[in-house]
Amino acid sequence: MKYNFDEQIDRENTSCYKYDLREKVFGTENVIPMWVADMDFRTPRFITDALKERLEHEILGYTVPPLSLKKICADWQKRRYGWDANPEWFGFVPGIVTGLGFAVNTFTQPGDKVIVQPPVYPPFFKVPNGNGREVVYNPLKEVNGRYEMDFDLLEKQLSDNAKLFILCHPHNPGGRVWNRETLERLAEMCASKGVLIISDEIHADMTYHAFQHIPFASISETARDNSVTFMSPSKTFNVPGLINSYYVIPNPALRRKFETAMEHVDLHVNLFGFVATEAAYTQGEEWLGQMVDYLEGNARTVVDYCDKNIPGVKAMMPESSFLVWIDFAELGLSNEALRKLIIDKAGLGLNDGPTFGPGGDGHQRINVGCPRALVVEAMERIEKAVKAM
Ligand SMILES: Cc1ncc(COP(=O)(O)O)c(C=O)c1O
Repeated sequence: MKYNFDEQIDRENTSCYKYDLREKVFGTENVIPMWVADMDFRTPRFITDALKERLEHEILGYTVPPLSLKKICADWQKRRYGWDANPEWFGFVPGIVTGLGFAVNTFTQPGDKVIVQPPVYPPFFKVPNGNGREVVYNPLKEVNGRYEMDFDLLEKQLSDNAKLFILCHPHNPGGRVWNRETLERLAEMCASKGVLIISDEIHADMTYHAFQHIPFASISETARDNSVTFMSPSKTFNVPGLINSYYVIPNPALRRKFETAMEHVDLHVNLFGFVATEAAYTQGEEWLGQMVDYLEGNARTVVDYCDKNIPGVKAMMPESSFLVWIDFAELGLSNEALRKLIIDKAGLGLNDGPTFGPGGDGHQRINVGCPRALVVEAMERIEKAVKAM
């Protein structure tokens, strides 16, 4: 079956974060919103059909995840990544950021050092910071248009009494899919200093076909025993409103600790999240393959458009997902002037680079999880605004 990702669907007035918060975030309704990280594609029918079928039973009481769901998640890991993960290692959390907060509070104490790699998804530093931990920045380095890790600086930071390292795998923004060599080195360095790794792999399933996502915990016994992984079908299948994420913690002592902390606040996950996860992981591969190709085409459109038509503006070609990182630094604008240019002149609602921490200056992040016509229109608007400066 051939799926249609070109269809434009009106999302206004559906309590939609991306559309209905425009005035609040950008000071105007008059922008094409290409910011918050969900997609404008129709949630696939095999998921909405499964949700409707569950609604046919008209009691929506307290719910436990079906036992089979952990096995379905483990089978997905095995099929997609060749990872033999035991279903017992899996459990469910109401969102990865919530899980991240729990992990930070469970595995560190107030004042402890938590290492993150900016520019990065803002909750990676806001969550530890807001919970009284000390955030240590290990900024990524841009080498030939791709991000790389700064292991020399990391070595020093790990030795300086750090407790936790939060890995974004694939990385947001920039879409870098970390390779085996990088992951192995990171695993050895952190384990040798007793620093636990949290690996957020929410973007993994949208890795482009020329690249291979390798689950961090799958690379070695060292990585397996010293990690907490978070994953979710939420972004991939466009169901983040259902709050359906999961963790994988192979080390029994770490898992017990994490699960005890969750029990102490009686944390539950949404019934419809379970239904969507099962439908996505048992029926979703054909749709996913086509969707990822479409995303890659959208990202390539942004990169090529900048190269051909907008001097001084460069976009980083992602290796996964729908978030493209655009570098406007050569234009020599202040962050404020750049934001004004994008909102007021181009009429676009993008994510502002500095919100991603150090390394974000002079950048904007565009979400291309939408029909290609919108991507082309956004690029034409950026070209026109830049050329009129
Ligand atoms: C790296 C990363 N982790 C987590 C999330 C959000 O996950 P959740 O909605 O499950 O909290 C996002 C959303 O943009 C993200 O980019």
